Amino acid sequence: MKLLITGGAGFIGSHVVRRFVRNYPQYSIVNLDALTYAGNLANLADVQGESNYRFVKGDITDKEFIQQLFREEQFDGVIHLAAESHVDRSISGPDAFIQTNVVGTANLLNAAVESWKGNMDGKRFYHVSTDEVFGSLGAEGKFSETTAYDPRSPYSASKASSDHLVRAYHHTYGLPILISNCSNNYGSHHFPEKLIPLIIHNIKNKKPLPVYGKGENIRDWLWVEDHARAIDVVFHRGKLGDTYCVGGNNEWKNIDVVKLLCKLMDEKLGRVDGESEQLITYVTDRPGHDARYAIDATKLKTELDWEPTQPFETLLSQTIDWYLQNDAWLEQVTSGSYRNYYEQQYNR
Ligand code: NAD
Ligand code: TYD
Repeated sequence: MKLLITGGAGFIGSHVVRRFVRNYPQYSIVNLDALTYAGNLANLADVQGESNYRFVKGDITDKEFIQQLFREEQFDGVIHLAAESHVDRSISGPDAFIQTNVVGTANLLNAAVESWKGNMDGKRFYHVSTDEVFGSLGAEGKFSETTAYDPRSPYSASKASSDHLVRAYHHTYGLPILISNCSNNYGSHHFPEKLIPLIIHNIKNKKPLPVYGKGENIRDWLWVEDHARAIDVVFHRGKLGDTYCVGGNNEWKNIDVVKLLCKLMDEKLGRVDGESEQLITYVTDRPGHDARYAIDATKLKTELDWEPTQPFETLLSQTIDWYLQNDAWLEQVTSGSYRNYYEQQYNR
């Protein structure tokens, strides 16, 4: 199997690459990544020398380059994770989201159709997507594979567009596709612009902990390694043309996640209980802030025997330990342009 993984230098992508490089020595794995602010080869330092792994720097919005890569490499499978992924950035600058998430995905689809036409046997194009395409839930109910799309941010609208294109290529050209829509991930190597790593970073440095609105929005948190395992299972055993919802069955209000992080980190850092909570600062809400996400992952459990690992507190505690032990990683990714982003986003 000659496998292309896009976005492998990012948060989830690096966990997927590591899992596939270690578990499938017989595969030849190419990690294609443009190394944007969110991509970091240090995330993959432990696998970079493996004989079944190769990194290619490149941009999925570059149509000629993508076509050439597919011609040269003759991939059998694609796991597509490359994306602009942060909702707040999509609000301040949507163009990059449309380019990478929509146009970039179309370039990959076109190259796969071209490369596989005449013989699609054994081929698979797996598109990794988000539950945010479904919009925002009220107090009741969960998203499932049959929920209608209702994206409400430029990020989720661009991901929804790409999902539609992927399905259309299946129906129109017979492209053997798979899609999964996953809830919020947490774990190691997560860029500290997203809630959990940002709060860990700020608690560590005794900086204000920005909570949007009243902190009552709810997310369904899934450990990133569980997501990588779900991707492995769906890629190898999923039914072609199908969609799978992936979630942690683990709903938390943002303010409760922040308070839990404060409590765990006060213990770990030898601070007085309650000290870090004083850093909590309520800030202006995100425009169009989705109230609640929750996933019903019954299909994945019933058909492919996948379940999330529990419990959240234990895995969150391990996650904090990773950030505290990998000071250099955190310092590296929060230097330079990160500072400008942070100042702009939080006015400080
Ligand atoms: P990330 O932002 O950490 O990583 C994205 C990676 O894509 C980076 O390495 C970046 O360099 C690369 N990239 C960006 N633009 C590119 C381009 N034009 N060409 C090539 N590479 C490019 O994102 P993530 O959180 O790891 O998310 C990965 C995928 O999973 C995304 O498709 C995202 O929509 C989806 N997803 C994320 C979550 C989550 O909680 N983070 C949940 C569900 C689904
Ligand atoms: P985030 O990690 O950006 O993921 P998403 O918006 O894709 O769900 O945010 C998770 C939740 O935390 C979301 O409801 C917005 C909120 N949030 C804050 O309250 N403060 C912050 O500084 C950030 C980054 C997010």
